[in-house]
Amino acid sequence: MRLPIVASLFLSSLLPIATTTRTGGGILRRQAPEFAGYLISTFSDAVPAVQFHLSNGNDAGSYAFSNQGQPVLNSTVGTKAVRDVFLTKTPDRSQWFIIGTDLDVKVAGFSWNRATRSGSRGIVVWKSSNLVDWSESTLVTVEDDTAGMVWAPSAVWDDASQQFYVFWSSRFYSASDTNHTGTGSLDRIRYARTKDFTTFTTPQDYIKLADTPLIDQEFQYLGTPGHFARFLKNETGSHVYQELTTEGLFGTWTRVAGFVRPEGSREGPACFADNVTPGLYHLLLDDYTEYLPYQSSNIDTHPNWQSSNYTNYPRGLKHGSVTPLLASEIETFAARYPA
Ligand SMILES: *[C@@H]1O[C@H](CO)[C@@H](O)[C@H](O)[C@H]1NC(C)=O
Ligand SMILES: *[C@@H]1O[C@H](CO)[C@@H](O)[C@H](O)[C@H]1NC(C)=O
Ligand SMILES: *[C@@H]1O[C@H](CO)[C@@H](O)[C@H](O)[C@H]1NC(C)=O
Ligand SMILES: *[C@@H]1O[C@H](CO)[C@@H](O)[C@H](O)[C@H]1NC(C)=O
Repeated sequence: MRLPIVASLFLSSLLPIATTTRTGGGILRRQAPEFAGYLISTFSDAVPAVQFHLSNGNDAGSYAFSNQGQPVLNSTVGTKAVRDVFLTKTPDRSQWFIIGTDLDVKVAGFSWNRATRSGSRGIVVWKSSNLVDWSESTLVTVEDDTAGMVWAPSAVWDDASQQFYVFWSSRFYSASDTNHTGTGSLDRIRYARTKDFTTFTTPQDYIKLADTPLIDQEFQYLGTPGHFARFLKNETGSHVYQELTTEGLFGTWTRVAGFVRPEGSREGPACFADNVTPGLYHLLLDDYTEYLPYQSSNIDTHPNWQSSNYTNYPRGLKHGSVTPLLASEIETFAARYPA
């Protein structure tokens, strides 16, 4: 938003196998018929470890708790607790990565003040080639010691440069304030590039607002090269807002007026396209207790996100991500981690 436009950067591959077909009426429609379900990657406050919920077919409102309701991955690094779980992959679906915040809110003496002054400066990472066999967790320190914390990482693959852009939020203290006792900066969105989630480029600012601390950014590719929505949490008012671009991640972004939902506190946006209905998008917002599901058929114009009114939505899901899966992936995943 406050950065120069990098014209060549049109990140376009979040729906790598989507096809375009011409209907009888001559209207072009994006379709992804090969996706057979959704995988929610998340954690819970009670058990801050990676947990999965697999949808019943392509029903975005109906899930079963994988691995008989037990976490699949525990962090063995840093605080040994993981939050804000984000699953991503290469476009050919041969390399999978789970990244998350290294933060234990149940540790003795915990306070959010301490968490933002002397929290972890690393991202917890797991790697897999098949979505079921996962590496041990590693902790990749991405910020230097002027940062007070690294929260809520998310990633976008860039086809042009064949690497991931990884985003998170940090607060900074002046270099002379080595104990981080002074007034920190406002939380801002940072980014770095990586091919392997082991080595990252030097981080830079992505969004730094003069008057508003920001956390929990997530992107949604909108099916046309360069077209994205992004969601950000305003930490002052504890509301999520949406912005749009047609110029790639570093293009000009336009704010959708107001907030996604005006009521209550909301954070941890997780957006995904419906596997069946073209143009329908889903958005999960964490109300500090659990995810509430919303939907819109006008994400790129006047979203007006409405509650999805599902009658059986799983309870207690926290800030995570939702990944459309192929039938073969679902079969393998459900066999290894049955509900
Ligand atoms: C992860 O930790 C939880 C809570 O301590 C434990 O119940 C579970 O068995 C562990 N799971 C794995 C896969 O290590
Ligand atoms: C930082 O904290 C340590 C431990 O409390 C203290 O010994 C040290 O003097 C502090 N440094 C500064 C610059 O205040
Ligand atoms: C964040 O919310 C506060 C009030 O809660 C408001 O003053 C501020 O303008 C908002 N900033 C953004 C970027 O939404
Ligand atoms: C869910 O119910 C509310 C209240 O009736 C309604 O305003 C909203 O449009 C419904 N959502 C959808 C997606 O239909």
